[in-house]
Amino acid sequence: MDDLVKAGGGGEWSRRRFLLQTAKFSALAFLGSPLALAELSVPATLPDPKSNHILMLGDWGTVTEPGQQIAVANAMKRWVSENSIRPDALLMLGDNFYGEMPDGVNSRRWITQFEQMYPSTLFPGPAYAVLGNHDYETFRGNKVEAELAYAKQSSRWTMPRRSYSVKLPNENPLLTLICLDSNIPGSKGYDLWPWSFVLTRQQHDEQQQWLEAELAKPRTTAFLAVAAHHPLYSNGQHCDNPKLIAQWDSLLRRHNVDLYLSGHDHDLQHLEFKGHPTSFVISGGGGAELVGWTTQPQERGPWGLRALGFTDLQISKEEVLVRHIGKDATVLYEFKKPVNIMERS
Ligand SMILES: [Fe+2]
Repeated sequence: MDDLVKAGGGGEWSRRRFLLQTAKFSALAFLGSPLALAELSVPATLPDPKSNHILMLGDWGTVTEPGQQIAVANAMKRWVSENSIRPDALLMLGDNFYGEMPDGVNSRRWITQFEQMYPSTLFPGPAYAVLGNHDYETFRGNKVEAELAYAKQSSRWTMPRRSYSVKLPNENPLLTLICLDSNIPGSKGYDLWPWSFVLTRQQHDEQQQWLEAELAKPRTTAFLAVAAHHPLYSNGQHCDNPKLIAQWDSLLRRHNVDLYLSGHDHDLQHLEFKGHPTSFVISGGGGAELVGWTTQPQERGPWGLRALGFTDLQISKEEVLVRHIGKDATVLYEFKKPVNIMERS
């Protein structure tokens, strides 16, 4: 069983479902650890359709487990439909396409695994995308070029460069989102899959300079998040990434980045470190085969679950509410990140 509570069938939030979820969060309080700014084990709350929502998922473009991608996509559809949510954006956290894609930008996979899978009728906003290690696989066809090219002809798929930043929502933005390419030279992915390309040294250096300049800009939104495929810290199969920690952790600390959003490990996680301003969120349950733990979430958490699913960032002026949601469209776990008063714009 890969989710904690079987809260019954679909339809509207019932009192029974709400109570079940509240009990679940009470139980999760025992998994907690000392935190900086994030507030754990908040009672299960109803999604607020008036707030801004970004739905994010990683590791979704599988060819070997198509039913699992469909299951998560269906859960996303149920989540927004049942809760009257009109998402502002999707955030595709990399490993967007596993395996071969010889027709590149003209591949049918764009239709079947993106356009129809996450239909614009329910997800009308931009789909901000970052590149994962599997996007760099050197099979027939260059998938990185295909993903950059598709962004030029799509009204939703958004990847103007390998790294870029956006402010959301368009009017009165609340969140600055910096999207990065974490396929850095010498990264773990390269060690494990030497047939994969990574950023060249020059691309890497340019990205690092650009990132430092972006972070140094005066903050104009209540919240600041960095998104990339690889986690810095993870209890999952790939564990911590010393190269990325050396590269980016001090920047996250220095600039009080609120959230670091990633995929790569095929599970759902929330990690906190005492005194660290950043909450680390992994959402890698978009469809690919689930994998095990290298560190138990009870040992270093506060939370992790080996489960298919996606993550909803509900954003208001006061807080970001992060909800991990399973393939049955119920909330598995949530925490809130209050606005950092010192950084309030
Ligand atoms: Fe990956």
